[in-house]
Amino acid sequence: MKKKITATVLSQKEIAPRIFDMWIATELAACAKAGQFIGVYPKDRSTLLPRPISICQVNDKKDALRIVYRIAGQGTAEFSSYQEGDSVEILGTLGNGFPTEGKKVFLMGGGIGIPPMLELARELPASTEKQIIVGYRDDQLFLKEDLEKNGTVYIATEDGSVGTKGNVMNAIEENHLQADVIFACGPMPMLRAIKKYAEEKKIKAYISLEEHMACGVGACLGCVVKTKEVDHHSHVHNARICTDGPVFDAEEVEI
Ligand code: FES
Repeated sequence: MKKKITATVLSQKEIAPRIFDMWIATELAACAKAGQFIGVYPKDRSTLLPRPISICQVNDKKDALRIVYRIAGQGTAEFSSYQEGDSVEILGTLGNGFPTEGKKVFLMGGGIGIPPMLELARELPASTEKQIIVGYRDDQLFLKEDLEKNGTVYIATEDGSVGTKGNVMNAIEENHLQADVIFACGPMPMLRAIKKYAEEKKIKAYISLEEHMACGVGACLGCVVKTKEVDHHSHVHNARICTDGPVFDAEEVEI
C-alpha cells in the first residue's frame, strides 16, 4: 500500500563523487522489496513532485531503507545536504519490484542502476547462484563490498581501470558466464543489449527502466514506454514505467 509519511534520516555519506548513500528510518521498510522505489519530496517547494529513488537495501529488522542516488538536479542536491536526525517526506513504496526466480542468475547493474541489485541479491534464495555483473565509469566502485557479501561480483569499467574494460556485456563474454534468468537495471543502451542477448539465448530477462522516470507517480507522462501487448484500460501499446513498472519482462517492451 502506498503512503506519504515523514521519515527520519539515520545517516548519510558520499560514497563516490556526487553519489550519496542515505539510510532512512521508516515503517515503509516493512513492505519494501527489491526493484521498488520511493518518492522523496524536496523541502524547497518550487515543485510539488517527488523525486523517484530506488531502494538499495532494507535492513534486517525491516524498519529502515537505504537509498543510493546520484545528484542529478536541485532536488537530489538538497537531499545530499540532509544529516542524521533530519526529517524527510517520502511516498512509497512505489512500483512493482523484481520477481525472485531462477537457479543461476545474472544481476546486472550499470552506474546508478547498481543499487537495486543489492537488495535483489539479498532477497533471492540462498540456493540461487548469483552472478553480479556491474558496470562503472572508473575505479569509484561504490557498493562493491556490499555486493560481494551476496554473490560473485564481476566488474566492468569504461576506462579499464578495474576488471573488464568496457561494459557489462563485455564482462559476460570475458568471463564466459551463463544464466537462466537475468535481472538488470541501468542506462537504455545497456538494457537494449541485454534484451537482445536474452532473446538470442532464449532466456528470461527482467529489466528495470527506473532511470527513465521523472515524477515517479503517474503525473508527468514523461515515462511512457511502448509495449507489445495492448494496455487493458487505454487500449494502446504503451505503459507508464512508474506505475506499470519499473520492472518489465524484456520481451514485453520495445526499447
Ligand atoms: Fe511521471 Fe511516470 S514518471 S508519469
